Amino acid sequence: MEAHAHATPPADGPTLASLPVEPLLTAEFDVDPGAVYERLRGTYGPVAPVSLAGVPVWLVLGYTEVTEVLRNESLWRRDVRYWRARAEGRLPRDWPLLAGYEVRQTMFMDDEEHLASRRTHHSALTPFQDPRSPEGWEVRAAVARYADELVGMLAAESGSVGFADLGAQYTRPLLLMVTTKLFGCPVELGDELVMDLWRMLDGGADSGPATARALAAFTRLAAHRRARPGDDLTSYLLLADPGLSDEQLGRELFMNAVYLNDITGNMVLNTLLEVLRGNTTVRRSLSAGQLGETVNRAALVNPPVANMCFRFAARDVRLGKVWVRAGDAVSPSAAAAHQELLALSSSHLVGATVSTRAHLGWGAGPHQCPSAARELGGMIVSTAVGRFLDHFTRAELTLPPDQLPWRSGPVVRGLRLLPVRYELGPGAVARRTAPMRPQHRAPGSGGEADGRAGGLLAALRKFMFGGR
Ligand code: HEM
Repeated sequence: MEAHAHATPPADGPTLASLPVEPLLTAEFDVDPGAVYERLRGTYGPVAPVSLAGVPVWLVLGYTEVTEVLRNESLWRRDVRYWRARAEGRLPRDWPLLAGYEVRQTMFMDDEEHLASRRTHHSALTPFQDPRSPEGWEVRAAVARYADELVGMLAAESGSVGFADLGAQYTRPLLLMVTTKLFGCPVELGDELVMDLWRMLDGGADSGPATARALAAFTRLAAHRRARPGDDLTSYLLLADPGLSDEQLGRELFMNAVYLNDITGNMVLNTLLEVLRGNTTVRRSLSAGQLGETVNRAALVNPPVANMCFRFAARDVRLGKVWVRAGDAVSPSAAAAHQELLALSSSHLVGATVSTRAHLGWGAGPHQCPSAARELGGMIVSTAVGRFLDHFTRAELTLPPDQLPWRSGPVVRGLRLLPVRYELGPGAVARRTAPMRPQHRAPGSGGEADGRAGGLLAALRKFMFGGR
């Protein structure tokens, strides 16, 4: 490990601002990010200067360096106030990624404030990931039921044999329904909100207004649930920390919605892709244990959080072959670090000794995905993929895997489409009308979320089937 926190950089050494930087988000990166990481690694070693929409940052590519940055919180800070370019007013006012970084929430906090906020999340999320608690049972049953309803809708619209996009017609509406249910959302937050979260994450020209709209929607939701508490995450966050203002809670919901909707959805799609790349026998023989292994494999090959949000150096520090100066922004790349792991595991020297569980798909160190969120995310992914395996007796990709279109932003990489030719089992349509389990709810506290998810399903028909 080459981090020498107490040495000083040479006075005439290159700085981030003085180095030639290549833009990261290019057409090549969209199609083949691995080739870009390889080239950067070949030129600069494990830490490379790149430009994100015109702003230079360090991209950390090496597994050892990525884990050092993620784990050493005293040296690598999250609070954007450490960012020198921002403090000195050198970021372009309309820099598309700025809006997201200005949303002050758990991810961008340090030390005691961060720990307190994580405790709030942990306490609010715990009931929903515990299969023995009524809330946990309810969420798991709801994910399965929504999956069944979506497959039933596909059968009704397109028949039991046909073509489908498992993104638009299964995964994305499923996660939207789960978010609506878990957050206790009024239906109006629906698919426009998801589009706004994507706009923000993709860092396009309209990401500023999209971030503002999404934040406003979550602040309204916070106020709504303060007035009408229910058995939902929004209300449980308020219970865990009654001192949260509507704006603070809105910001936390906003961040959770990104993970729940976009990141978890991408994890479902990436796992489905791993399943579809295997042969039919592999798919049929996937037991629960093997499904966990397939999810790990998908997280290793295609981590949804490909390049993690910035950390800022607390002081000058050597990392890899470069000197990172105090206040420089670094983005630890799980995707590039995994490339190293995969290369090791295919090397004849190491053989198969690198475990798929060594992946950084959940992050690492003090900001890694909280354990309750990991359990919940894992449950949603395995239930969504498990229901797919139950219903789809055959499914084949209609494009070669290397021609699938990906959405590559500065942080997230996810499939735009997952087109398949499918055949459904006989139960698919019948299950659509399966009876629902009675609810464990305080009177007037939240059965509405399920009714809304049903209403949302009807509204999503257009989104899923292009208005047919
Ligand atoms: C399979 C799905 C998921 C994946 C792959 C995932 C991945 C991650 C990663 C990589 C981080 C760390 C980012 C960083 O250090 O910059 C993270 C943090 C976080 N995730 Fe997850 N996540 C998932 C699901 C969820 C869900 C369902 C929730 C909540 C509903 C959630 C809540 C959070 C929170 C609150 C943080 C911030 C923790 C902090 O900064 O201390 N995640 N997640």
